[in-house]
Amino acid sequence: MRYGYFDNKNREYVIDRVNTPVPWTNYIGVNDICAVLSQTADGYVFYQSPQYHRITRFRPNAPISRPGHYVYLRDDDTGEYWSISWQPVGKDLTKAKYECRHGLSYSKYRCDYQDISASQTVFIPLNEPVELWDVVLKNNGTRPRRLSVYSYLEFSFHQIDMDNQNFQMSLYASGSSYADGIIEYDLYYEELGYQWFTSSFEPDGFDCLRDSFLGAYRDESNPVAVEKGECSGSFEKTGNHCAVLQKKLVLQPGEDVRLTFLLGEGKREAAVSVRKKYSDPANVDKAFSDLAAFWEEKLGKLQVGTPNQGMNTSLNIWNLYQSEVNILFSRFASFVEVGGRTGLGFRDTSQDAMTIASSNPEKCRKRIVELCRGLTQQGYGLHLFQPEWFDPKLRGKQQSFKSPTVVPTPSREEMIHSIKDACSDDALWLIAAISEYIKETGEVSLLDETVTYADGGEDTVYQHMMRILDFSDKQVGATGICKGLRADWNDCLNLGGGESAMVSFLHYWAIRHFLDLSRFIGKTEETEKYEKMAAKVKKACNDNLWDGEWYIRGITANGRKIGTHNDQEGKVHIESNTWAVFSGVADPDRAVKAMDSVDKYLYTKYGLMLNAPSYTKSDDEIGFVTRVYPGVKENGSIFSHPNPWAWCAEATLGRGDRAMKFYNALLPYNQNDEIEVRQSEPYSYCQFVMGKDHTAFGRARHPFMTGSGGWAYFAATRYLLGVRPDFDCLIVDPCIPKDWSGFDVTRVWRGAAYQIHVENPSGVSKGVKTIELDGKAVSGGIPVQKAGTQHRVKVVMG
Ligand code: GLC
Repeated sequence: MRYGYFDNKNREYVIDRVNTPVPWTNYIGVNDICAVLSQTADGYVFYQSPQYHRITRFRPNAPISRPGHYVYLRDDDTGEYWSISWQPVGKDLTKAKYECRHGLSYSKYRCDYQDISASQTVFIPLNEPVELWDVVLKNNGTRPRRLSVYSYLEFSFHQIDMDNQNFQMSLYASGSSYADGIIEYDLYYEELGYQWFTSSFEPDGFDCLRDSFLGAYRDESNPVAVEKGECSGSFEKTGNHCAVLQKKLVLQPGEDVRLTFLLGEGKREAAVSVRKKYSDPANVDKAFSDLAAFWEEKLGKLQVGTPNQGMNTSLNIWNLYQSEVNILFSRFASFVEVGGRTGLGFRDTSQDAMTIASSNPEKCRKRIVELCRGLTQQGYGLHLFQPEWFDPKLRGKQQSFKSPTVVPTPSREEMIHSIKDACSDDALWLIAAISEYIKETGEVSLLDETVTYADGGEDTVYQHMMRILDFSDKQVGATGICKGLRADWNDCLNLGGGESAMVSFLHYWAIRHFLDLSRFIGKTEETEKYEKMAAKVKKACNDNLWDGEWYIRGITANGRKIGTHNDQEGKVHIESNTWAVFSGVADPDRAVKAMDSVDKYLYTKYGLMLNAPSYTKSDDEIGFVTRVYPGVKENGSIFSHPNPWAWCAEATLGRGDRAMKFYNALLPYNQNDEIEVRQSEPYSYCQFVMGKDHTAFGRARHPFMTGSGGWAYFAATRYLLGVRPDFDCLIVDPCIPKDWSGFDVTRVWRGAAYQIHVENPSGVSKGVKTIELDGKAVSGGIPVQKAGTQHRVKVVMG
């Protein structure tokens, strides 16, 4: 069963059955202000921080997640009313036609009801802290219509905690007022705690008090003011507040009208100029087209044309979008993550940064520097930290959104935790992020930049990298395998004093990245040192972690191996096996066996499970994972994030058919017609899909905010299609299904554009016979070309 379709021409996903099984969300805003809105316009907006500066209120995890950013319409002759998005009024879907188009940083809601067609496009102009609703109404009938239009949103007490508990102060410190067509909302105790709401027209009515607008014993589905057709003009110091502006209109047959609603940060005065600007529809159009150009520029860096339509749609639009959303908003704003955390997670941010180096090198660089500052001198990263603690420009300054009544977040000193809180994988990911950034941009000088450590002192980025590698070198158990510390990538596998196979493989991968770099810049001494380290790690892994058909996952504090042929539960794990192969630790024979075991034990039609069989007996030596329901999250679900590691591993082995089988299984696009199973958005990878050991096998959960987006993009473009930058050339080394006759990639790299046409006349999966650049043969990769130039590249596989 499907609920919508991909409109690639407009880069939109069109939801034409709006009663999806769960909310299908989108992310509006690319800078300081961001809204998370569903296909029914439920959701919230925040400024800079979803935890500390919520602008609108949201009641999550309810049968209907409300409220949202709504427009009501009322027929003033009959008294009947509805909303432009299906919710909150929830008209009978057999009588009213509803549609939602989720686009890149905007959502467009449409409805047709009783000869009135209406649309509400919600977007946030680039570089302006303003949410804009572009509303268009048209009378398609043959008689004049008297209509009322009402906006609605509910203001929040700014801090997530204040908004959910102990209202004995916040209820009496929040106030609203109306003057000259502008609503102003404030939290009296916050110096900068103001928002405004206005419109392009002179309102005929308004309400600022939620309960006056909705009425007693009612909710957003049947506000008394809309029912009666009159707002009450309410406002007050204290209470719960909303933004309702009412406009009465007469629409002649065939006539249309365009209205703009605006929500912004700051006091009433700030609204005046913004209101003036956007009262001119030409400025609304310009802001919207600037946003489109912003995305066009990003997407234009890499576009693909392959025989796999799902892959094209995903890589050209949605997968990149998801990756960018992750890096822009960190990971903490969704309908599931409703703002209780904030800041940067070390491992997640490192990986996210690595995967968007091509589309967003500036943000990638910014994140790299922030992460280097979050590294301790010993070489481990702070698992979760606020980048502003360590930013010389911000240090010591009060954040604008900090409220005096709320318990402050831990101070920098409190957060520089001891090694017992460190996760063993966190900082290793940063090495690859730095290396990929330099390969993308050529900015080798980043290595010489001096950056502070979280616990004092400073050093170059290059030195930071070595501290990371040295930390993992020292943190090993008796067998020479890296200690698991608090956890490794798998938060629920708490090996305690034990050892993590995955981290040793990751260590090896990070050393390899570093060695490529140190050789490239001619650092002989370091190269020798880390070559020795690499050899030592590889030997320790191969001596201790091989089980016969696959690699084990780790060793508990008591020396018990996890993930062996003797285990009834948690026999095979994806993390260790994919990393053994992708890192280069496994020799070809073991690598093939390990990935065959992944296919045999972990493959399902919806993707690869994290481990199988799932744990059913609690075992604290292994960790919390054994206390998670079988088939769910870290215990045997199809956890999406590690799936691309398997594509990379198969690409290393040159098995394109197997890699594509794995790719296609997880691809959300391929579940578009199976929403009764998937439930969640088919345009976003989800954190996990329920595994075989759960009754809801195939159900996806937690869209957008997951490392799977970035990793899927990275793995598919760089290892399946094989177009990846090196330090001094662009490599084209595809691993594709044998029945692909070829594919095309447009890639902008260091300012030059390459039209890459790959042919596969002999039906192979891997291997490049010839590469021509503008008609001339080149060997190895494509050398760097002058910025601003355009080139044709022909690659023949065989
Ligand atoms: C979540 C966390 C991530 C972790 C993964 C597996 O996605 O954000 O850091 O690696 O779960 O536990």
